[in-house]
Amino acid sequence: MSKSRNTIPVSQKPGALSPSSANILVTGGAGFIGSNFIRYLFEKTDFQGTLVNYDKLTYAGNLLNLSDIDEKFGGKSYFFVRGDIRDYEKLKDVFARYHISAVVHFAAESHVDRSIFGPKDFIETNVNGTFTLLEASRQFWGNRRDVRFHHISTDEVYGSLGDTGYFYETTPYDPRSPYSASKAASDHIVRAYFHTYGLPVTISNCSNNYGPYHFPEKLIPLIILNAIEGKPLPVYGDGKNVRDWLYVEDHCEAVWFILNKARTGETFNVGGECEKQNIEVVREICDILEELHPLKDNPAARKQAPHITRYSDLITFVTDRPGHDRRYAINCDKIKKELGWKQKYDFENGLRNTVSWYLHNKKWVEGVRSGEYIKWIETNYHIREK
Ligand code: NAD
Ligand code: DAU
Repeated sequence: MSKSRNTIPVSQKPGALSPSSANILVTGGAGFIGSNFIRYLFEKTDFQGTLVNYDKLTYAGNLLNLSDIDEKFGGKSYFFVRGDIRDYEKLKDVFARYHISAVVHFAAESHVDRSIFGPKDFIETNVNGTFTLLEASRQFWGNRRDVRFHHISTDEVYGSLGDTGYFYETTPYDPRSPYSASKAASDHIVRAYFHTYGLPVTISNCSNNYGPYHFPEKLIPLIILNAIEGKPLPVYGDGKNVRDWLYVEDHCEAVWFILNKARTGETFNVGGECEKQNIEVVREICDILEELHPLKDNPAARKQAPHITRYSDLITFVTDRPGHDRRYAINCDKIKKELGWKQKYDFENGLRNTVSWYLHNKKWVEGVRSGEYIKWIETNYHIREK
């Protein structure tokens, strides 16, 4: 493995940041992973500080994701501020008002297909927004080293693998979609702030997450909901693209480990070590549904698709995603060895929890399917009809 462009040679000892009592600014906390992270912090750690959820509430952000947390902690240790990460003045205000000592930066445009239809928002939020947030952090913190900027990134920055090999922290960047290119750019800017200004940063590059509160434009929730409703299950191309799946709570725990234990300047890959072809994932969802919600007891699906005898009869191969990355596979030995993190959920348990969550949270599902959502589904799948 050659020495990479994105390795950080110098790392600093953990500063005096104490995440359990920090005032943490979580950006994008109303989205899928951000909301799971906030719930994880309040419910599964010894966190005693203040948490400010700063989110623009785009189509992907939803305060319903956190209504339980707001009820228990709102106005005491949990605060929501509606704002754009490109709004420097508003960020400055929030940093000062809440004495922010750590940033966990999730906010992004995150859907690859949308980045193909309209890359502009991806550059604006993921690149310009990250830059603005870094600037606000640097201006507010000055030379303080007892603070932290943690940047959430993706394995997609490393490009696409063939049948073998893994992404390491040292793998050179090779992004191929507007989404992954914008995330790669943001990673580079974050590292530049470490090297140039000494801003205490850490970065994690994670594989595909799945779990509760996942917006149903992404593969797993889309397939679950379409199957329940007897709609076609769209599989791009030959269905043999491989993703490495990680249950979202395991990702949240990895971020908490990094905040608590990592040296600044370090990057950690986080992955599920669970490679699956898309078609396998879709079939596994169908099998779990047959068990938890058998087709014979699902009149809505039978009415919508009277010809089918099993959920898997709904599988429909559709036109591929342009530039579709073939395989992602993360090597996450570093975070395991250095920080003692490991996944707690295997795919079977994680997927079962997830399917069951969607079966039991119909109100949430109705709430997130706005007019904008329906418009997107029509746009994306209309052009894929064969
Ligand atoms: P998401 O799309 O569900 O949520 C994104 C959130 O960011 C939303 O709440 C949205 O309202 C908010 N947001 C968007 N633009 C904003 C702006 N300009 N200002 C403030 N808030 C804004 O995304 P997710 O799946 O939860 O992903 C979170 C982060 O994790 C992203 O940075 C993504 O690149 C990264 N990531 C995601 C995965 C995955 O599988 N979902 C895997 C690895 C890394
Ligand atoms: O790898 C991490 C990335 O995982 C994150 O950085 C992204 O934010 C996140 O969206 C996810 O990107 P993917 O493109 O891998 O996720 P998505 O759920 O869109 O697609 C997963 C795979 O399933 C991919 O190979 C495309 C395929 N697919 C997707 C959809 C929506 C289908 O076959 N049919 C579909 O309808």
